[in-house]
Amino acid sequence: MKFGYFDDRNREYVITQPDTPLPWINYLGCQAYFGIISNTAGGYSFYRDARLRRLTRYRYNNAPFDLGGRYVYLRDEESSQFWSPSWQPTRREFENYSCRHGMGYTVIGSTANGIEAHTRYFVPLDENLEVWQLTVTNRRSAKARISAFSSIEFCLWDAQDDATNFQRNFNTGQVEVEDGVIYHKTEYRERRDHFAYFACSEPLAGFETQREAFLGPYRGWDSPAAVEAGQLTNSIAHGWAPMGAHQVKLDLEPGETRQIVFLLGYHENPVDRKFDPPGSQTINKKLVKPTIARHLDPAKADAAFERLRQYWDGLLGIFQVSTPDIHTNRMVNIWNAYQCMATFNMSRSASFYESGIGRGLGFRDSNQDLLGFVHMAPARARERILDLAATQLPTGGAYHQYQPLTKRGNNDIGGGFNDDPHWLIVGVSAYLKETGDWSILDEPVPYDNEPVSEQPLYDHLQRSFSYTLARLGPHGLPLIGRADWNDCLNLNCFSDTPGQSFQTTTNKDGKVAESVFIAGLFVHAGRELAAIASRRGLAAEAASYLAEVAKMESVIREHGWDGEWFLRAYDDFGAKIGSKECEEGKIFIESNGFCVLAGIGLEDGTALKAMDATGRHLATRHGIVVQQPAYSRYYLNLGEISSYPPGYKENAGVFCHVNPWVMIGEARLGRGDRAHDYYSRINPSAREEIGELHRCEPYVYAQMIAGKDAPTFGEAKNSWLTGTAAWNYYAIVQWILGIRTTLDGLQIAPVIPTNWPGFTATRIFRGVVYKISIERQGEGNRIALTVDGAPIEGNVVPPPKDGRKEVSIKGILS
Ligand code: GLC
Ligand code: GLC
Repeated sequence: MKFGYFDDRNREYVITQPDTPLPWINYLGCQAYFGIISNTAGGYSFYRDARLRRLTRYRYNNAPFDLGGRYVYLRDEESSQFWSPSWQPTRREFENYSCRHGMGYTVIGSTANGIEAHTRYFVPLDENLEVWQLTVTNRRSAKARISAFSSIEFCLWDAQDDATNFQRNFNTGQVEVEDGVIYHKTEYRERRDHFAYFACSEPLAGFETQREAFLGPYRGWDSPAAVEAGQLTNSIAHGWAPMGAHQVKLDLEPGETRQIVFLLGYHENPVDRKFDPPGSQTINKKLVKPTIARHLDPAKADAAFERLRQYWDGLLGIFQVSTPDIHTNRMVNIWNAYQCMATFNMSRSASFYESGIGRGLGFRDSNQDLLGFVHMAPARARERILDLAATQLPTGGAYHQYQPLTKRGNNDIGGGFNDDPHWLIVGVSAYLKETGDWSILDEPVPYDNEPVSEQPLYDHLQRSFSYTLARLGPHGLPLIGRADWNDCLNLNCFSDTPGQSFQTTTNKDGKVAESVFIAGLFVHAGRELAAIASRRGLAAEAASYLAEVAKMESVIREHGWDGEWFLRAYDDFGAKIGSKECEEGKIFIESNGFCVLAGIGLEDGTALKAMDATGRHLATRHGIVVQQPAYSRYYLNLGEISSYPPGYKENAGVFCHVNPWVMIGEARLGRGDRAHDYYSRINPSAREEIGELHRCEPYVYAQMIAGKDAPTFGEAKNSWLTGTAAWNYYAIVQWILGIRTTLDGLQIAPVIPTNWPGFTATRIFRGVVYKISIERQGEGNRIALTVDGAPIEGNVVPPPKDGRKEVSIKGILS
C-alpha cells in the first residue's frame, strides 16, 4: 500500500494521506539554521545545534505522535468552525490533502469548507530564518470571512534543560512585541546575545505570546481557546511558556487568493550593542529589522525560493544517471544524494528518532558521511574534516562525539572506540580523491583542540594508523576497546547493573577482546594511507604501511578465518564470536562485508566463500541481517547487542548501513546481479508498495529494518540520519555503476546486472563535465574505454591536459 507517490520531475515526494504510519519528515535548511518538518507540520527549528540552540519546542514520543510544530489554523468567521490545513493538530475531515516534500522545502495543504490553503515552508540560503508562505483561496461561490492564525511554541534554547528544569524555566520566559513582530528573549537579559523572532507580513488582528492564553487551561493544540473564540488576546508572556501566534483577517471574494508570509528567525547581536537604548533592557532591533522587512515581501520570498531550487539543481547535477531501473535512478539522482546532505548537516543529532538532545556529531559517523556528500560540498567537507581531526586525541584515538556548537569532544562519552581513528583516513582519502586538494594534508590541526598542539593533518593520519599497532591483542588482531563499528558489541563492559551505559562502562582492562572487523578496516585504511604517502613522495613510509597491512592480512587468515567465513571477534575470555563453534551469533555481516570490501581473500577464494556464506546465512528478502542466529538471551560478555530482542537493531536486524559493504564485496567479486539485488532489497523506493509494512518514508533509507527473527519482519525504523545514506550512495555509484574517484582520475569500472543493456551518466569531477555512456555487449565486466573518440589503456580517465571542460567517455562491457 502506498501513501503517496514520487514526482521525480519536481524532485518531490507527494504524500496524499495525512495519517502515514509514522510521521514522514523532511529537513529545512542546509547551512546554519535548520528545522525538521513532518507531513502534518510537526517538528522544530534550531540554530546550528539541535540541543544547545533550539528555537521551538517539540514533544517527543507523545501521544498522538509528533506534536509541536509550525501550525496554521483557519477559522470561518460565519460558522465559527476552525481547522488546520496540515491536518494536525486539529485532525478534521477535509479534501485534497497533500504534503510535498522537496529539496529543502515542504508544502502542506488541503481544502476544507470550500477554502483551499497551503503553506510552503523553507529556509532561504544564507539566512538564519524560515519562511512560511500561506496561500488561501476562496473556492466558494460566496464571499468568505476567514481568520488565519500562525503558531509556534518557543523553546528556552537548551532543549535538554527546557524539558526538565521547570523550577527555573517557568520563571524566566520573556518576550517583546513591536510592530507586530514577536521577539523571544528569554535569558537575553543575562548571558545570551541572541533572540528569536516571529513576524507576519499583514496587519494583525491580534497576537499571543503566552501559551496558556492561546490554548486555555487544560486544552491542547487541537482546540486552542483563542482560536475557538476567534480573537487572540495580545498576551505578554512573563515566565511559563512563551509562544508566538498571529491573527490575520481575510475577506475573500469567490475565487480570490491571498498570501501571508510568516517568518521565524534567529538573530545574534554584538555584545556591546545588545540593548537599545544602551543601558535599557530592550532588545536592539536595528540590525535585524532590515532582514525581517526584506523577507516579509512575498516577491522576495519567491525569489529566495527560486535560488534554493537552483542551489539544489546545482548540487544534484554533479552526478546524474539514467539506468533501466527507476528506483536506482530516483535514489541516486534525487533522494539518496539529498539524504547524504542531511546526514552531513545533522550527523545523528535531530530526526524523528534522534531527539536532538542525545548526541552531537559522531567521529566515525561523520567521517563515513563524507563518502556520500564530498562531491556536492567539497569546501564544507574540508572544514568538517579539520573539525573532526581537531577532536582527535594525542594518542591517535578520538572522542567518539563532539558538539557542533562548541566543536569540542564530548567528555561524557569520551573515547576508546578502537575503530574510530581509521575512519579519519577513510574520510580524508575520499576528500583527496574527489578534489585533488593535497594542501589539506599540510593544514595545522590541534589535538583535543589544545592550542599549540597543532600538527599537519597528515600527522593525524599517521597517528590514526599507529593507534591500532599500539593496541594489538593476543592473536595480533586489533583490540576492540569499548566497541568497534558495532556500538553494541561491548566485549569489555560486563554490565549487570540496570541503566549503566554499555558504551561508557568498562569493567575489563580490554587487553584480550579483539575485533576482526577492525582488522579489515585497518587493512583498508592502511592501503589508502600508503597510496597517499607514496604520492607525497614517502616511498619508504608507504612500504612500511603495506608491510603492516600484509602482516594483518596474514593474521586474519590465521586467526580471523573460520573455514567458511570471517570470524567477528574474540571476547574477553579469548573465545570466538561469529564462529560455527558458537551456539548463537555464528556468522556476522560486518567482518565478512568489510574484509571483502578491503580486498582480503580475493585471490585465494576466501572472499568468495565469505560472500556465499553471507548470502546463505544472512540475506533475507528485506535485506541482510547483522548476524545469525540471533541472541536469544542477555550475554554478560557481549553487552548491548544481546539486550535487543531478536531481529531488532544490532541483534540480527537488517542494519542497512552495513548492507552496502556486502554489495561492494559482491562487486569486487564481479557479481553485479547479486550486488544490485542486495541494493534493491533495501532501496526505499523499491519498497514503496509495501508501505504498510515498511512504515518509514519511501524516499529515504532507514537505519534498520526488522530482521527475520522479529515479529515485525520488514518493518523499518530510524529513518534519515544513518550511515546507510552515504554507504548506499557510495556502493551504487562507485562500485555497481563503477564511476569511481581515485587519486589519479575518474575510474570507470561498472559491475552492473547482466540484463542491463547499459546506462548513461553525467559526472562533474574536478571542474570537468564527463558524459559517460556504457553499453553492454557481453555478460562480463571487462571494459574498453574511448575518451572523446580515442581508445585508452586501462580504466582510469586522467584529467584532460588541454583544459577541455567537457569529456565524453564511451565504455563497452563484455
Ligand atoms: C549507529 C551509530 C554508528 C554505529 C552503528 C552500529 O548507526 O551511529 O556509529 O556504527 O549504529 O552500532
Ligand atoms: C547505535 C546503535 C544503538 C545503540 C547506540 C548507542 O546507535 O544503533 O543500538 O544503542 O548506538 O550509542
